[in-house]
Amino acid sequence: MNKLYTSPAAPAKIKSLPKEFLRESLLVWYRTQGRKLPWRETQDPYAIWVSEIMLQQTQVKTVLPYYRRWLDRFPSLTDLAQAELESVLKVWEGLGYYARARHLHRAAQIIEQDYGGAFPQTLEAALKLPGIGRSTAGGILSSAFHLPVPILDGNVKRVLARLIALPVPPQKALPELWIVSETLLPPQAPKEWNQALMDLGALVCVRRRPLCGDCPWSAVCLAYAQGSQHQLPQTMTKAPLPHKRIGVAVIVKENQQFLVDRRPPQGLLGGLWEFPGGKIEAGETVADCIRREIREELALEIEVGEELIVIDHAYTHFRVTLYVYLCGYLGGEPQALACEEVRWVNLEELATLPFPAANQKIIDALRRRWSQETRTAPGLSA
Ligand code: ADE
Repeated sequence: MNKLYTSPAAPAKIKSLPKEFLRESLLVWYRTQGRKLPWRETQDPYAIWVSEIMLQQTQVKTVLPYYRRWLDRFPSLTDLAQAELESVLKVWEGLGYYARARHLHRAAQIIEQDYGGAFPQTLEAALKLPGIGRSTAGGILSSAFHLPVPILDGNVKRVLARLIALPVPPQKALPELWIVSETLLPPQAPKEWNQALMDLGALVCVRRRPLCGDCPWSAVCLAYAQGSQHQLPQTMTKAPLPHKRIGVAVIVKENQQFLVDRRPPQGLLGGLWEFPGGKIEAGETVADCIRREIREELALEIEVGEELIVIDHAYTHFRVTLYVYLCGYLGGEPQALACEEVRWVNLEELATLPFPAANQKIIDALRRRWSQETRTAPGLSA
């Protein structure tokens, strides 16, 4: 059943952890110091699942309004499974890492089809769903069904790495850290325990300046005993993010119509709308890049006009700078050669489509510009 990842014999250091003290002291601490969060008050596996996915890469305070809005809009798993992907992405807009929304949507359809609409209750089945890794599965199954499945998210890695004074970066000792998480988990209180571990990491055993004076584990924490809590966990040296320069066209037709395209469903920002454009090649000017991209992607000839805005944005694996130009439409029918769909939309319609965060800044710039222009001389000099 949930034994898929049961670990081999634990190393001596882990076996010697004062398990009963750690369990008792953390649970006592959690009962008075733990956070009251809406997904902890519900028994609905669907709502708990949604919260765990939103919390994967996003802080609690950012997630809270999105979680409420999501459940207003898609109150049940069936509502989500039946929704259009575009409306799902619209509710997710601004939360980032859009694959999470696509996976939630797809997984809801799988659960409807294969499990009669009920979230599966084994680790094996949960792990087969898109977007659910081992730690997320542990968070959901322990919260929704009180199953003794451990977790190991970023906060928990830090807490456990300090507890055992892990001498290497957590990413290099994941099997050991999973054993610690699994060993400590009290089978009679898995939900409280996992939530408590997360709160200890979020409130006390924080990355910078941990509040060891407030920690229920300070008497037995090996990092604290060594005075190495500020140096731990060790970090991996990261290569700087690669940087891409992108030329972007805001193609304008009369009556304030703008040309936008929908990205293919797979890959980065899949299914979201964007202003067309692409990577500036070595030796290419921004205007040449924009003309070339629009020819290749949409089979259109355009006139590149003035710069609208330059935007810097960091994704997980790279940074981009978008050079956004207003462009004149010279006629012809745009073809969706490298995207799902193209559409002419006005400013109001732009607000109803899901766009990535960086493109949202383009829309804001357009709004500012058009409100200025209508106050002075209406029309575009592209
Ligand atoms: N991060 C991941 N899951 C969480 C939860 N259930 N509560 C608070 N933070 C979390």
